[in-house]
Amino acid sequence: MYDAVVLGSGVLGLSIARELHQRGVKVAIVAKDLAEDSNSVGFASPWAGCNWFSFATGPDDPAAEWDRITYLGLDKLAKERPELCEKVQVYNVWERPKPSGSEPWFKDLVADFQQVAGTSSNPLPGNKPFGTKFKSYIIHAPEYTAYLGKQVRALGIPVIRARVSSLDEVYNIPQIGKVDLVINASGLGAKTLIGVEDAKVYPARGQTVLVKAPNVKECIMHTEGFNAAPLGPGEKPLPEPAYMIPRPGSSGHVVLGGHYLVSNYSTLPDLKEAERILKDCYNLCPALAGPNGKSWRDIEVVAHNVGLRPAREGGARIELEQRQIGQGGSNQVAPKSTDYGRKVAVVHAYGVGSAGFQGSLGIAEKASDLAEKYLKKANSSRAKL
Ligand code: LAC
Repeated sequence: MYDAVVLGSGVLGLSIARELHQRGVKVAIVAKDLAEDSNSVGFASPWAGCNWFSFATGPDDPAAEWDRITYLGLDKLAKERPELCEKVQVYNVWERPKPSGSEPWFKDLVADFQQVAGTSSNPLPGNKPFGTKFKSYIIHAPEYTAYLGKQVRALGIPVIRARVSSLDEVYNIPQIGKVDLVINASGLGAKTLIGVEDAKVYPARGQTVLVKAPNVKECIMHTEGFNAAPLGPGEKPLPEPAYMIPRPGSSGHVVLGGHYLVSNYSTLPDLKEAERILKDCYNLCPALAGPNGKSWRDIEVVAHNVGLRPAREGGARIELEQRQIGQGGSNQVAPKSTDYGRKVAVVHAYGVGSAGFQGSLGIAEKASDLAEKYLKKANSSRAKL
């Protein structure tokens, strides 16, 4: 009945399922958190910032291609659904000079890219000395996730809520039947899912403050210290990251961050950290406190949020793995499986960390290419039998 099952219903799982369906692949989704579960702390997607601001290290980083495809795709979304996605002005500012020639890989991709220097007559946000400005997209993360969920259901893709403990189970979900291909978009789940258990996966805790500031329409990023490499000898610690990302739509909401704590599973907001974020963001943009605001204390707080980014050492894993049922310890879960030894495959699509939304359309294309290639080969060898 079905060609493939997508495990996971975050921005990656949903985007991949939609893409596969559009290519004529019969697909179903299995997940423990569903698109509309926007308050689930076990689920990263609804808590994302969320904007397109590529972290790819250069044009040869595979993430550059995923992000490029997504940047171009978001233009259509912004035109069709402005309440979900909007093109806005972005300022990226920093303090420590960068070596010359270190312009971002995306300078010719994004609209109106410019290097800017802060001067007394023309200061940059937070009076920072260095910066770039360009146009990029902001996305309403929880509403865009819910929208993708509605879209896949409207396409007739079954969405089944189930908590699985092994990859093997997904090849034979009772409501779906047997499949030979699974797309593993299980996010942080890939750390513990039997048959995958990827030790490189870790949670990167993010904390944000959702505020109301209807006059703030620009994104300001001061993210030198965001996910930064360890300090070299004699290097000064980088300033803690701060960013503000308005949400599209009429709520006037702005997401303030940033916080990146490796391998920390706490989903309770830390109020000291919230205060630090509010202060740093106010320094970048006093307008957050409203026209009569005098300090960071005048910022109207809507909510304190925490999300666990599904990160992975070395970056996201987007690859096809040929395997057998029972491989990787799953036989201990279901020792009597009649399926034991059946040759199957998995397309992994997890470990995307901070870059899930901004890479989602490109990752959906790449993961679907791998899935289609496998299915074509499997079908033609079946036809030969
Ligand atoms: C985050 C944004 C910056 O991960 O993508 O906090």
